[in-house]
Amino acid sequence: MADPAPAQQPADALELRQRPGQDPGRLPAGPAVTGRLSLGVLGCSAIARRRTIPALDSLGNVRLAAVASRSAEKAERFAATFGAEPCGYAELIERPDVDAVYLSLPNRLHHEWARRALLAGKHVLCEKPLTGDPATTKDLIDLAAERGLVLRENFAFLHHPQHARVRELMAAGRLGAVRTLSVAFTIPPLPSDDIRYDAALGGGSLLDLGVYPLRLAWLLFGDGLSVAGAALRVDERLGVDVAGQAMLVSRGGVFVDLRFGFQHSYRCRYEVWGSTASLSLDRAFTPPPDHRPAVVVEEQDHDERFFLPPAHQFRLSVSSFADAALRGAVASEEQGWLTGALETARLVEDVRTAAAGHLA
Ligand SMILES: NC(=O)c1ccc[n+]([C@@H]2O[C@H](COP(=O)([O-])OP(=O)(O)OC[C@H]3O[C@@H](n4cnc5c(N)ncnc54)[C@H](OP(=O)(O)O)[C@@H]3O)[C@@H](O)[C@H]2O)c1
Repeated sequence: MADPAPAQQPADALELRQRPGQDPGRLPAGPAVTGRLSLGVLGCSAIARRRTIPALDSLGNVRLAAVASRSAEKAERFAATFGAEPCGYAELIERPDVDAVYLSLPNRLHHEWARRALLAGKHVLCEKPLTGDPATTKDLIDLAAERGLVLRENFAFLHHPQHARVRELMAAGRLGAVRTLSVAFTIPPLPSDDIRYDAALGGGSLLDLGVYPLRLAWLLFGDGLSVAGAALRVDERLGVDVAGQAMLVSRGGVFVDLRFGFQHSYRCRYEVWGSTASLSLDRAFTPPPDHRPAVVVEEQDHDERFFLPPAHQFRLSVSSFADAALRGAVASEEQGWLTGALETARLVEDVRTAAAGHLA
């Protein structure tokens, strides 16, 4: 039997810590933030420059305060381009004019710097994957809950309305009983000095790309996904996985197959296949802001296209984070985002375990 489509962010696995006498619906009070959220950018990364900082431009609820780099010269260049104060990492998280930190460091540094920022009392928007590991993900979730701070993983695709449309079609029975989800996120090889090829920095295609299909499977089918098998292709010289495939089964018996890696031509697409029709969506995880998505439903003698308006998913993600921080985190709202991060990290670990005997 197929799973029913879960709520927007399934939220039943995470237990947020509460203090005695605390209203169970609310986290402890975080720092008082009013007006616009003042954001500090930790790491002058490509994604910050290309997507995240430009997305702030038209947002009324957040403003860029400072940017931090390991290199003073790079911080100054970035700061001059975007109209912010330059500084170093440690200084940024202590700055009184910074309410929240956007962190886009190499994956292996996410836990350390997100932890330090939370301890300094800052809300944190961390690039995906939050850590990619269940224990350190849980550590950050607990710390944010204790401190009453908003912690989000910047999986921007979750904010794009195209997936909500898919879920509506599934819930309305447009596909009949859902049997299979098939997802691919692949890109051609990267420049040899890319952080994704550096094992010490948390490189590898599972953490960079494989996490998207895993998170999508969780978005569509909720908790209880199990990994039935996986294989990873590991570059022996680099010590990182450069491609992989995995098969999962949802609690309701839907089969999920996923492919990812840095070795194939570009593909970013999924298909949900039911007993009476199938649905496909292209540019699924990284649609440009001006892209007009089309959800395509195919039946034996009939095709239908549902066109949707373009959406700027980075803008939506940052704005949603800023809203949550500005109004004061409500545990029940944040729980779904964090359960998703934890479940994704658990699935990453299970894929690694399943693939251990199948390294190519
Ligand atoms: N949400 C999305 O769609 C999306 C897209 C792409 C990437 N990401 C995520 O964003 C993060 C950064 O990816 P990116 O492609 O933007 O990487 P990148 O351009 O290489 O940026 C990483 C930044 O981390 C800092 N850093 C600190 N220690 C470093 C070290 N030892 N080596 C290299 N850099 C170091 C550097 O900033 P300073 O030199 O200024 O210190 C560097 O600019 C990753 O977690 C990735 O998964 C998310």
